[in-house]
Amino acid sequence: MTRDFHILTLASFITMSQESMNTDESTQDYSAYAIIAKKRDGQKLTSDEVNWFIGGLANGNVTDYQMSALLMAIYLNGMDTEETAALTDFMLYSGKVLKFDGQNVVDKHSTGGVGDKTSFILAPIAAACDIKVPMISGRGLGHTGGTVDKSEAIPGFKTSLDFEVFEKFVNEHGICMIGQTGEIAPADKKIYSLRDVTATVESIPLITASIMSKKLAEGANGLVMDVKTGHGAFMEKKEDAIKLADSLTQTGLRFGRNMMTSLTDMSQPLGNAIGNSLEIIECIEILKGNGPSDCRDLSLHLAGGMIHLGGKAATLEEGIEKAKEAVTSGRALKVFRDLIERQGGNPEVCENYDLLPLAKCQTEVKSSTDGFIHGIDALAMGLHCVDLGGGRKVASDKVDPGVGFVLNKKVGDSVDSGETLLTIHHNENQKEHVKKLIEDILNKDIKIQKDKPQVDPLIFETKINWSQKNV
Ligand code: URA
Repeated sequence: MTRDFHILTLASFITMSQESMNTDESTQDYSAYAIIAKKRDGQKLTSDEVNWFIGGLANGNVTDYQMSALLMAIYLNGMDTEETAALTDFMLYSGKVLKFDGQNVVDKHSTGGVGDKTSFILAPIAAACDIKVPMISGRGLGHTGGTVDKSEAIPGFKTSLDFEVFEKFVNEHGICMIGQTGEIAPADKKIYSLRDVTATVESIPLITASIMSKKLAEGANGLVMDVKTGHGAFMEKKEDAIKLADSLTQTGLRFGRNMMTSLTDMSQPLGNAIGNSLEIIECIEILKGNGPSDCRDLSLHLAGGMIHLGGKAATLEEGIEKAKEAVTSGRALKVFRDLIERQGGNPEVCENYDLLPLAKCQTEVKSSTDGFIHGIDALAMGLHCVDLGGGRKVASDKVDPGVGFVLNKKVGDSVDSGETLLTIHHNENQKEHVKKLIEDILNKDIKIQKDKPQVDPLIFETKINWSQKNV
């Protein structure tokens, strides 16, 4: 199939698939049955077979149940880098693909976690260091929070802007943060909805194609990937996270992107705040030079990587130094303030946190014992936040931006009996729910023991790979 087009819409996802049926390769006698059987038997699919199959989903040659069968075969037998790239390519060009001028266009993607709010810190820092940041993010998925939901905690902040406006803001001001639209990689939306109901989400090639088709569409030539591991992450086991990091890197390089991939801890929540408004406050505090050290250090590391990949620092370390300077000088906070204002939000939230939607009640959870914190279950805390209304159980749920938690203690900290472990931010009608929540937190989710624990590093490893091709 020829790829002399770069901008396609959802309608052309269908047209394109029909076109693909008329090209020389695709007039071959492919059958959905034969392709499914080939993957079921552990064989490698050609790019034409992948294109024909995914295109067939749009033009009616492939049914949802055949796609589901292929997804399960991929889940069980995997795909190599070439097959994953073919899948990514088709999903990428099923929608709109943006292109920016210059080599300093860099974005970050995180595989998701609890309290993971680094986008609001690193994007303004990178933009303050002359990096263009075209950031298109998603909403919360399961127990993990989403950048779009957090942005919408800021009164008036618009996350759905036309692409022309998005491009103008990135080109003229170096930063814009919007939400996913149906125009970006529509094939992913369709395939993800099938994965979601067929137990095929946790597949490295499928996750790679899903993430990369959306990230490549943004038009950045450098990508910083924060791949999380631990109980609150998609990839709980470190060896799986390493495989995902490698797959994302190899796919990015094939598409001509410079890649930095960091493997980072998500066994406990990142930072102290969990919940949309509370997380925005923590980001502003970090941009003011305060805030918890884990979230600040990770944000500076990832921002440093963006500055390095974008050619504005010779090394990652120099990038991190530039990132720190952007915070201490106040330039990054100014970029964030201006970004909020340009996208329709009230920038005064940076000075007055009461302008954010906040929960009316605060209940402290106190320790009943002395010792050291051995664990704070990130997955459980994420699910508790969803239960309070801070996330969605089904796509149509309305999110309450005010609820959540602020942790006073993190893993490795000492604690005295009667000391506050965390504060629950909730609504008046949730008092009964909060009583049960406190029991769960004290009995199951926060582990306290007498001895001082060994604390895992926040960043396990970082790899930087430069593409041989230019985008
Ligand atoms: N995030 C995505 O966008 N897709 C996946 O498949 C998993 C996480």
